[in-house]
Formats: sequence, C-alpha cells, structure tokens
Amino acid sequence: MDRTKYEKIMRGAGDLDYEIYLNTKQLLACQKEPDELCNPDELQFMIVHQVEELWMKLMATTLLDINDEIRAGRTLKALTLFRRVHICQEMMTAQLVLLETMSPKDYQEIRLKLGNGSGQESPGFRTLLKMPTDLWQTYEEVYLEGGSRTLEQIYDSEYSHDEAYMMAEAFAEFDEQFQKFRNAHMQLIYRSIGVAANSLKGRPVEILNEGLRQKFFPALWHVRAEMTDRWGGTYGRKRDKLPHDA
Ligand code: HEM
Repeated sequence: MDRTKYEKIMRGAGDLDYEIYLNTKQLLACQKEPDELCNPDELQFMIVHQVEELWMKLMATTLLDINDEIRAGRTLKALTLFRRVHICQEMMTAQLVLLETMSPKDYQEIRLKLGNGSGQESPGFRTLLKMPTDLWQTYEEVYLEGGSRTLEQIYDSEYSHDEAYMMAEAFAEFDEQFQKFRNAHMQLIYRSIGVAANSLKGRPVEILNEGLRQKFFPALWHVRAEMTDRWGGTYGRKRDKLPHDA
C-alpha cells in the first residue's frame, strides 16, 4: 500500500463543513508528522495522552456546570451531569490499556523525547485535583444546609435515599473512579518501566503511591466507617441470635 497516499487522505483537505466545524485540519496536525516519530508507537502514545486531555477538559467543564446546577437547586440535572463525568472517568481508565500494546523498548525510545515532561504537568489533571475542594464546599452549603444536617443523618439515622444522599453517592463515585484511574496508571507504569524505576523527574515512581491513598471527600468514607463501628461494635466478639439457631 502507498503510505504517502493514505497519509494525505487521513489529513483531509479541511474545507468540508464537517472538517471546518470540527477543526479537523488543526486537530489532525496536533501529532508529529510520520517522519518525525521516533518509532510507530509514538503516534499511539501522543494520541492516548491527547484524548485523555480532552476527556479531562470535558470533565472539568462539566464539574463547573454541576456546581451551578446544585446551587440553582436542580439536583436531578446535576446527577445526570455527574453520570457524564463518571463515564469519562471510566473511559480514561479503560483507554490506558491501549499503551500496554507498546513494548518496553519502544517506550524507552519515546521517553527520551519527552524532555522533563510528566503527567504531573497535565493541565487537565491539575485542574481536576483542585476542583473537588470547591465542589465539596458547595455540597456542604446546599445539602448539609451549612451545618444543620449531617452525613450521619443522611446515611443512617434519617436515611431516606433523598437528593442529599444521591448527590453524596455521586461524589463518592467520582472519588472511587479517580482511584481506579490512578491504580490502572500505576499498573501501566509497572508494565512499561518496571516497579522500582526512577521517573522522568528523577523521583521514584513509588511517589505516586501517595496519590493512590488520596481521598477528595474523606467525610464520605468516614461516615461508612463510623456506621460500621456503630452497627457492629461487637462484631466478631459477640454474636446475636440468628433465625437458624436452635
Ligand atoms: C506508558 C505509559 C505511561 C508511563 C510509563 C507513565 C509514567 C508516569 C510516571 C513515571 C509518572 C510520575 C511522574 C513524576 O514523578 O513526575 C506519571 C505521572 C502521571 N501520569 Fe503517566 N505514564 C504513562 C501514561 C500516562 C497516560 C496515558 C496518562 C493520561 C492522562 C498519564 C497521566 C499521568 C498523570 C495525570 C500523572 C500524575 C499522577 C499523580 O500525580 O497522581 N500517564 N506517569
């Protein structure tokens, strides 16, 4: 097959309505030209990162919309938007696995082209790391009514599966999906550069383990733990009578 012919077709002329509306000319020029790639896998490496950056842009924008919807009292709309964020998170994690089709040697060659760049410099990721604190403040003001309701009431003593509960679960899902991404990313690192290697920043890869333990909304995890303690304080030590006991 004639590579040059197909590479030209792939770029498109950029003058059709679809191409103009979607800026395909600029979009498809965001990767290195074929003769600039250090190996064929570098194209995949760039595209996966760029696609993930776009999903993070959509997620961050949607989180801003969620904040507005919550403040406007439109919980159901905010929940639909949260579902969109969760799907983006699932896709971000699922897409990492594409890079497991890259051999460790191919990655080493690509790595030499990255300069000191690292995912920690990702604008999307840095934005997403900052947003949860502000979003949680909105949750507290609106659903905890500035302190007159508690998560304990919402989850346990006054549990009614209400809007405050549904929204709290959407926050917890965000936290959990973030961890799933970080775990999958760590596995990808192990697969590509090994378990004990140094990162491009010269720091041990294991530094990312701190992020694996980070919770954006610790109160949502504490409320569960507190319930477990309250409901089962004697669990494993004292056993209530069960129906099948004689
Ligand atoms: C073979 C593929 C990959 C390897 C070997 C790799 C490796 C690494 C390493 C070593 C770090 C730590 C950097 C440091 O200490 O400064 C890191 C961080 C990061 N990488 Fe990757 N990465 C890969 C793919 C990706 C992809 C596809 C994304 C997509 C968004 C990504 C996003 C990130 C982010 C967001 C961080 C910061 C994580 C945090 O602070 O918890 N990486 N990566």
